[in-house]
Amino acid sequence: MDSFEFNKIAAAVLVTALLFIGIKEIGNFVYKVDKPKKSAYKIEGVADNTKTTNEKVKIEEKLASIKPLLASASIESGAKVFKKCAACHSIDKGGANKIGPALWGVVNRKIGGVQGFKYSTAMAKYGKNWSFEELNGFLHKPMKYIKGTKMGFIGLKKDKDRANVIAYMNSKSDTPIPVK
Ligand code: HEC
Repeated sequence: MDSFEFNKIAAAVLVTALLFIGIKEIGNFVYKVDKPKKSAYKIEGVADNTKTTNEKVKIEEKLASIKPLLASASIESGAKVFKKCAACHSIDKGGANKIGPALWGVVNRKIGGVQGFKYSTAMAKYGKNWSFEELNGFLHKPMKYIKGTKMGFIGLKKDKDRANVIAYMNSKSDTPIPVK
């Protein structure tokens, strides 16, 4: 084999190697996938754990005050919305705790305040009262608003539904708070 022949073979080997590496690199480049920050599909009823605390803050900031909506809320429509809650909650006077605590007179009641109901630590230690705004935030996204709550409910997306159901709960009390 003369040196020319050898050079030809060496060059061929080199080119093949380069091609191989090159294709791999191009492959990496072309197929580089940016992982989405959020899951693309939201499954009803399943908590989305991919959101960061920052995003939680954003959700809360986005929620406008419920007060203006309460003034025009419908207690009758709220009773219909409450059907979603009734599997777990009683609302009438003297109603018992079910999967969730009894809700008669819940507006302005201490959060986690029903005697004899075994609350999650998160709710038991929350330490505020159920103001209209607290109810609004919690019912929007329960598991985000009070992290660690055992209320396994996805939440009420529509402002109107929350306003109506809050108005309904407010009416189910010895001392409803005037909203108009
Ligand atoms: C799958 C059962 C379930 C459904 C449905 C449900 N809840 Fe609850 N709820 C619970 C449980 C359990 C708790 C106690 C949470 C804890 O201890 O963290 C709770 C707690 C609450 C509290 C706090 C009460 C207190 O004494 O501090 C309110 C208010 C409430 N729910 C309202 C609602 C409303 C309104 C709906 C419907 C829109 C609803 N819940 C739907 C199970 C449910």
